[in-house]
Amino acid sequence: MPKVFYVQPDGSERVVDGAAGDSVMSTAVRNGVRGIVGQCGGSLSCATCHVYLAADDRQYFDGPGEDEDEMLDCTASDREDTSRLSCQLVLREGVDVHVTVPDEQT
Ligand code: FES
Repeated sequence: MPKVFYVQPDGSERVVDGAAGDSVMSTAVRNGVRGIVGQCGGSLSCATCHVYLAADDRQYFDGPGEDEDEMLDCTASDREDTSRLSCQLVLREGVDVHVTVPDEQT
């Protein structure tokens, strides 16, 4: 079962068991992880699921597609090289994922 490590802006960490095929966003929302809103439900139209993906974990995911890239310009907190929309990060069996939640989402 993949685990997702959510680090808050204050450095506190929450570890949640995820399921392959679920997104980092839906896993957060289902478990009440602070700071990940997921307002549009994963349809790439809100950017309230913005996270910073740990550099070591980037190898597990394709880069952002065109639509995600455009939405990443609309995030409430600054966009960085590691910025991703967590609704587009789909969990895989045997792969743990580490993300940092930005200061603000909306
Ligand atoms: S949940 Fe809206 S863009 Fe990810």
